[in-house]
Amino acid sequence: MLTDDADPALVAEKLIHPQFPRSATYDPVWQARYADGPNPLWLAESLTGLLDLTPGMRVLDLGCGWATSSIFLAKEFGVQVVAADMWLRPETWPLIVEAGVESQVLPVRVEAHDLRFAHEYFDAIISLDAYQYFGTDDLYLGYLQQFLAPGGVLGIVVLGITEELDAGPPGHLADMWTWDHQAFHSPAWWRTHLERSAPMTVEHADLVPDGWRHSLRWQELAAQTAPPQARPACAEWARRLATDAGRTIGWPRIVARKTAPSA
Ligand SMILES: C[S@@+](CC[C@H](N)C(=O)[O-])C[C@H]1O[C@@H](n2cnc3c(N)ncnc32)[C@H](O)[C@@H]1O
Repeated sequence: MLTDDADPALVAEKLIHPQFPRSATYDPVWQARYADGPNPLWLAESLTGLLDLTPGMRVLDLGCGWATSSIFLAKEFGVQVVAADMWLRPETWPLIVEAGVESQVLPVRVEAHDLRFAHEYFDAIISLDAYQYFGTDDLYLGYLQQFLAPGGVLGIVVLGITEELDAGPPGHLADMWTWDHQAFHSPAWWRTHLERSAPMTVEHADLVPDGWRHSLRWQELAAQTAPPQARPACAEWARRLATDAGRTIGWPRIVARKTAPSA
C-alpha cells in the first residue's frame, strides 16, 4: 500500500505499537509495503497468542496475501508453513528468501476449495483477513477440516462486526455498506457457524482487543502513503472508523479445534 517516497518515521509511528511487541521487531516499511490490509503481522500476533504453536508443526496460512504472516509464523514459532493464496504473487518467494525462512515456508498458488494436500496433514490452519471470502458457506468447514489432524486447530481473524445487523447497518455506515459486507459477521455468529458445520469445538470467539483502533491507525497511514488515487477512500474509511469507534466494526478472532478424525 506504500509509495516509494513514504516517510519511514511516519510509517514507524503508526505501525510500532506496544500491543504487538513481536511485530514491532520487523521493519515497519516492509510491513506496510507487503500487506493487503491492516496489518497481517498484527492479526497473526493477536491470533498466535491463543494457539500453542511449537517448532516443527505444519501450518497452512490460507489466503496469505504477500505471505508476511507466514514468514512471521516461521520466524517466531519455528513452524513449517504452507503459504497459500489463489493470487500468489511472483514477489513472494524473494520475500521468503530475504527473510531467511526458505526451508520453512512453501508458497503455493491454490484456491481454497481445491486444496491439494493429504487429509490430516496440518496441525493448524490459520487464515487472516481472508476466511470471510470463502468460509461463510455452510459446507466449507466440513471440507477444510479434512486437511487438519485430529486435535488440530483452526484460527481465523476476519474483518467483521460486533453484533449481527438484523435491522441493517447503522446510519453512519449505511451509504458505504455494499453487498459484499454481507460477509461481515460477529464472533457469536462465527461460533455458531463453525460448530454446526463440522466436528469442531470453538474454544475462543471474541474481537481482537482495540481492533478498530488498529484499523484506524492503518487507514490514517494509508491515507498519506498509499498511491494517490487510493488515498481518498482510505481517508474516508478512517473517518468512518473514528465515528463508529468500535460500536459496529471490529475483528472477530476465532479458534476451533477438530474433535474427531476425518470421516
Ligand atoms: C484481504 S487479503 C488478505 C491477505 C493477507 N492475509 C493479509 O492479511 O494481508 C485476502 C486474501 O485472500 C485471498 N483469497 C480470497 N479468496 C480466496 C480463495 N477462494 N482461495 C484462496 N485465496 C483466496 C486473496 O487472494 C487475498 O490475497
